[in-house]
Amino acid sequence: MSIHIAAEPGQIAPRILLPGDPLRAKWIAENFLADAECYNEVRGMLGFTGTYRGERVSVQGTGMGQPSLSIYVNELISEYAVQQLVRVGSCGALTERLGLRDVVIAQAAATDSSMNVHRFQGFQFPATADFELLRRAVEAAEAADATHLVGTIFSSDSFYHDRPELTATLVDFGVLAVEMEAAELYTLAAKHDRAALAICTVSDHIVTGVQTTSQEREQTFGDMVTMALDAMLA
Ligand code: HPA
Repeated sequence: MSIHIAAEPGQIAPRILLPGDPLRAKWIAENFLADAECYNEVRGMLGFTGTYRGERVSVQGTGMGQPSLSIYVNELISEYAVQQLVRVGSCGALTERLGLRDVVIAQAAATDSSMNVHRFQGFQFPATADFELLRRAVEAAEAADATHLVGTIFSSDSFYHDRPELTATLVDFGVLAVEMEAAELYTLAAKHDRAALAICTVSDHIVTGVQTTSQEREQTFGDMVTMALDAMLA
């Protein structure tokens, strides 16, 4: 058992999906995994292990933001030897090339987080996805005929910004969307030589202001989960 995860050694699979919302983790376990069993309820941050196409797969909620994700990913890697980690989340679109419910496959994640400022002391670390997972996710998106873009996202420490005008700079540099977790996931994967990827569906549009309904989010979320599982197991 680790500090925040109450699983016994061996209870967590080498491949794991990481939604921010623990109730999404439950929904994924119930709808996509066979014989799923809950291994964690500490702080309500639910985690499950089951099988998908005969292979063991886990799903763990991470909470919102990089400090929260960092706790779970550190423990999953160091205490439970997880090898492949795929975040399945939502994002706000920064470009009109993206519509609501489209999929963003994050090749790289820029960030305003102080986590990497403290780590790298003035260096700028490029937080990038595992190439194989990225390639297979793109193949899965193409096979599913899902509207998707591959590129850079922004992992913000804030959902509510005091300086929203700064997002114009991100747009100028071709950043596709904003979310709150991927940069830390990619950085930890690099540190520990693990494979990580973040796939996000567009839940809201920062340029146009339109938002999805919760029903739409559930449908799109399911399509993305299939893509993530196919990428991990290809
Ligand atoms: N900002 C940050 N994270 C998000 C957003 C957003 O607009 N939408 C979904 N996740």
